Amino acid sequence: MLIDKIKKILSPNYKKTKWPGLINAYKQYLPVTKNTPIISLNEGNTPLIFSQSISNLIGNDTKVYLKYDGLNPTGSFKDRGMTMAISKAKEEGSEAVICASTGNTSAAAAAYASRGGLKSFVLIPDGFVAQGKLAQALMYGAEILSIKGNFDKALEIVRELSSQYPINLVNSVNPYRIQGQKTAAFEIVDDLGIFPDWLCIPMGNAGNITAYWLGFKEYSKVKRCLKLPLMMGFQSEGSAPLVKNIIVKDPNTIATAIRIGNPVNREKAKIVKKESKGDFQSVTDGEIIDAYKILAKEGVFCEPASAASVAGLIKNKNRIKKESTIVCVLTGNGLKDPDCAIKNNDAIFRENLEPSLETITKILGY
Ligand code: F0G
Repeated sequence: MLIDKIKKILSPNYKKTKWPGLINAYKQYLPVTKNTPIISLNEGNTPLIFSQSISNLIGNDTKVYLKYDGLNPTGSFKDRGMTMAISKAKEEGSEAVICASTGNTSAAAAAYASRGGLKSFVLIPDGFVAQGKLAQALMYGAEILSIKGNFDKALEIVRELSSQYPINLVNSVNPYRIQGQKTAAFEIVDDLGIFPDWLCIPMGNAGNITAYWLGFKEYSKVKRCLKLPLMMGFQSEGSAPLVKNIIVKDPNTIATAIRIGNPVNREKAKIVKKESKGDFQSVTDGEIIDAYKILAKEGVFCEPASAASVAGLIKNKNRIKKESTIVCVLTGNGLKDPDCAIKNNDAIFRENLEPSLETITKILGY
């Protein structure tokens, strides 16, 4: 088109094809039609970052990549599912959506609902939602209901409510969420050119591990690849219902995003583990914080729950076959939980200094 030619002359780096958001990019693999109004913030297409230092730490010529999904528009992988869930809710004529959340789902639901002109209600556990996430839900325009109970209780309530009233549930029991989230697996294969040997991922409700597995399985047919990754799911020691195969009544962890005692996708997760010949393991809060710091030193700031994937990988160092390609999923941005970063770092932070050249020079040691 003439307009593109003119733009190219005026700006040599002008690209005609910008990333159109994941629904437009992977339309042929998603349940959308011409009539689906696409509510998008150009989510997806997040970087797959090679980590030399973590590869070295694992050794054995392993290549470790980080799928940094914290670079989605609201700062977490939830945007992948939410663009689908809200687009379909709008297509169905829904006027309101509801979710229970440890924070990220509420931020994404609020953002996409507002963009689509829908009302959103979010139920959150009192006192256990990171500040950044709460700020987002407030700003994006959700109605926030903070309950004196944990995530599991909140989910129980919204499931019951949405089954009785005309309000659309956008937790990961909503099948469109899983459909949107599976695109992350497509992106990994498109970027690497191969399927990874292992995928390390944090688990809460186990919606995301279910979505990745679906994505890898579907893409293996498209790419005619028979070897799929081992799916390695990690939970916090104090909140590990899938690892221990129990319901945890009072889950507890520094990684508030995955502070979940009764995952709704439990049965699906079991199938993923079996089919992929993977494993579910727990990591301690201490191991999570160690991995959180290792990642930050690599220049990649994620939230504590996300660091569970790297903590888990480090724990399995001796199980990894030579020359493996491993992807760790970093589900949320570090800025989501500033309190955790401020409390858990090794930085030198000198305060209340005299504002003089002399003081500062002396401190720097010149
Ligand atoms: N990582 C982060 C940063 C999350 O926010 C979540 C879930 C998970 C991992 C686990 O994903 O539930 O699909 O296994 N957060 C939900 C929320 C529960 O409400 O934001 P999952």
